[in-house]
Amino acid sequence: MASNDIPHATSAQQAALRDLERDLTVDTAKLQSIVQGFIKSMNQGLEKDGNSLAMIPSYVRTRPTGQEKGTYLALDLGGTNLRVCQVTLEGHGQFSVVQQKFTIPQDVKHSNARMFFDWIADCVSVFLTDHDLEPKPEDQDIPLGFTFSFAVSQSSINRGELIMWNKGFSAEGVVGRDVVLLLQDALKRKHLRIRIAALVNDTVGALMTSAYQNPSTVMGVIFGTGTNAAYYEKLARVAKWEDDASAELHDKLDEMVINMEWGGFDNAKEFLPVTFFDNGVDRETQNPNKQVFEKMISGLYLGEVARKVLLHLIDCRLLFNGLSSTELNQPYNFDTAYMSTIVADETSDLGDTKHTLETVLLLPETTLTDRRVVQRVCYLLGLRAARLSAAALASVLTVRQDLLASGPCTVGIDGSMYEFYPQFEQFLLEAVGEILGSSLAQNVKTTLAKDGSGVGAAIVAMVADKQRELLHK
Ligand code: GLC
Repeated sequence: MASNDIPHATSAQQAALRDLERDLTVDTAKLQSIVQGFIKSMNQGLEKDGNSLAMIPSYVRTRPTGQEKGTYLALDLGGTNLRVCQVTLEGHGQFSVVQQKFTIPQDVKHSNARMFFDWIADCVSVFLTDHDLEPKPEDQDIPLGFTFSFAVSQSSINRGELIMWNKGFSAEGVVGRDVVLLLQDALKRKHLRIRIAALVNDTVGALMTSAYQNPSTVMGVIFGTGTNAAYYEKLARVAKWEDDASAELHDKLDEMVINMEWGGFDNAKEFLPVTFFDNGVDRETQNPNKQVFEKMISGLYLGEVARKVLLHLIDCRLLFNGLSSTELNQPYNFDTAYMSTIVADETSDLGDTKHTLETVLLLPETTLTDRRVVQRVCYLLGLRAARLSAAALASVLTVRQDLLASGPCTVGIDGSMYEFYPQFEQFLLEAVGEILGSSLAQNVKTTLAKDGSGVGAAIVAMVADKQRELLHK
């Protein structure tokens, strides 16, 4: 798909698309230089706190066997919805999940610690009542795994302080506080007999879910509202980790799952091909110059970058005859899901794209050339997102080349970009191949870790007990 493929585009439109294509293309050489910067940042993050890659020890030090059995509650918070789940691990890598979704109201996202956690506790209470799960007086408190998908500095497997909000959340009085204690207090206020056994990032959840089903799993990745990854690192390489285990135990527990917080890569904008449009989006967010990588890749922001590009073309009178609409003028109104629909549109008149532009975004009548230009913009941004993601993924696999060289390595992935964005996975794997070379890349297996956050939280709650036994034996 080259820009001159758009029939009837004027020479000015073609020139604008060529410029855009130049700015959004991440060629192999650029990928390689990003990988170098990424690996350097990983090493800095493992050495000490305060670097752009936070590289947070998750306190998960063992791998699931797939034979774990038990029933746990799980909470998954970090995107559009709160999910409350009852997860039953059945052994043999099998599990079942009963769940209920609650859309997080905007005023809760921007409220304060007390209202925020009370709202969560209310949802848990509704779930327990609806599913008749309240413990009887003779029962023990129900163990719960809490997936809280933000940068949290953990101090144990079920303790951690929020470092900063992102993804449009801003409830006051939570940053710097232990989110497990805040939730535990809110549950107590509602007289819910629940014990929070584990605090988990969604990437750790994806990793554990995938590992429960497939022992060759080395990484868990999220390409959703935000983006991030967790992987098994050699404890000896985590210089900032202060060891708490005996030498003998060290041999048994010689790995640690690291929550990388890779959305924060290159906040200094040294390595990434950041464009005028990316800077525009970044500047208007709640956290300028933070999560720069995430803002070029993930579902919350990609549509907004596209909207900025479209408005630029409109303002140059290269699109829609120079006319926008109130809907398109509204920040964050060009949803990334629209981009998926537009890129996937194979109708001869781009009818689905026409529907999105004219019926949903109420733009004045569009021409076929307009629609092709819009499709091209969305395609280029999706391709760039997948290729940048590949650079991050390949960096981790380069660091763990010991594993990759010795056989298949599975990467468990969850999130709407991965699941629904057309060709995302194909572009991702192609770029991984360019970076690693075909012989290593053929060992990279990607798999959907669907709903990994819930299942993963249950697995970590169970692993927590196992680890505790090992550490206190
Ligand atoms: C953001 C959060 C991170 C989470 C990711 C995906 O980057 O900081 O913790 O894993 O979004 O949800």
